[in-house]
Amino acid sequence: MAAVGRTKVVVALPLTRALLDQMADYDLAMVPTGGSDETVLAAALADADGVLVSSNVPVGRGVIVGAPGLRVISTMSVGVDHIDLDAAREHGVTVTITPVLSDAVADLTIALMTMLSRRIPDGMRAVADGGWKVPLGGDLAAKTLLLVGFGRIGQAVATRALAAGMRVRYVDSRVGLPAMAGVTGGGTLDDELGDADFVSLHVDLNARTRNLMSRRQFTSMKRTAFFVNTSRGGVVDQAALTWALTEGAISGAGLDVLQDEPPPPDEPLLKAPNVIIVPHIGSATEETRNAMAQCAVDNLRKVLGGQKTPFEVTAS
Ligand code: 8YV
Repeated sequence: MAAVGRTKVVVALPLTRALLDQMADYDLAMVPTGGSDETVLAAALADADGVLVSSNVPVGRGVIVGAPGLRVISTMSVGVDHIDLDAAREHGVTVTITPVLSDAVADLTIALMTMLSRRIPDGMRAVADGGWKVPLGGDLAAKTLLLVGFGRIGQAVATRALAAGMRVRYVDSRVGLPAMAGVTGGGTLDDELGDADFVSLHVDLNARTRNLMSRRQFTSMKRTAFFVNTSRGGVVDQAALTWALTEGAISGAGLDVLQDEPPPPDEPLLKAPNVIIVPHIGSATEETRNAMAQCAVDNLRKVLGGQKTPFEVTAS
């Protein structure tokens, strides 16, 4: 219970002592992190003004409706698919994000592309097995990369891919995206998929993008092409991707995200050929996570202080 007149903030993510000290003027309530138990969060939020969460803390309609004093949901993430944005809007709750992770995610995207094209897992396996067999891979240079989504992260990937000598194209229906020398866009996903040597996803998960990559899309790709996903698992029909890898409809996939994280042990994709899966590490560098945490605290303080932040989410 907040002391009379004090602002109550619920902290549902791990924060350093220094960051907690920056919020010493609030009544802080810590709730366990990493779980998906919305009832614990709902109880803590009933009399709260603000909450700090990350992408593995769901904030559904029930939680928002049950928190009449809530003014801000500050998420330490760029994705907002764990928050019911419609409910937040209807109840006048501001949602803020931390878009300071583009370089880290773009680095990982290029790493996955390189691991696939240079067959790095094959080489590692050969050495670990006591051998020294050289797997012959392919260059990135002169290959075509299709970016599905050309927001901040897509643009950061484009910068790196251009430096590697790749041809870069994108699909993104938003208007007003910045022009980048050497990058072409404007086509549809259906038009573009068949020409790409690499397809990389950089879109939000929402009703329009759920299962955007399904069997038809994988079938449209070159059999020699590689697929990379560092956005959200729900953008991909996982059974269709498993099929595409097993049948050789595409050459390989590099994934930072899955529909369920962690996946059930019997998830068929885990056993598919030529798939590299890492445990959602896109933003997981010390520098980036520190910057995200500071940004989340700054966003929360601004909204509670009646100020604007550039990181408010307006569209779903
Ligand atoms: C992390 C992410 O999962 O920003 C996002 O949308 O998916 C990641 O950076 C996470 O939110 C870090 O707390």
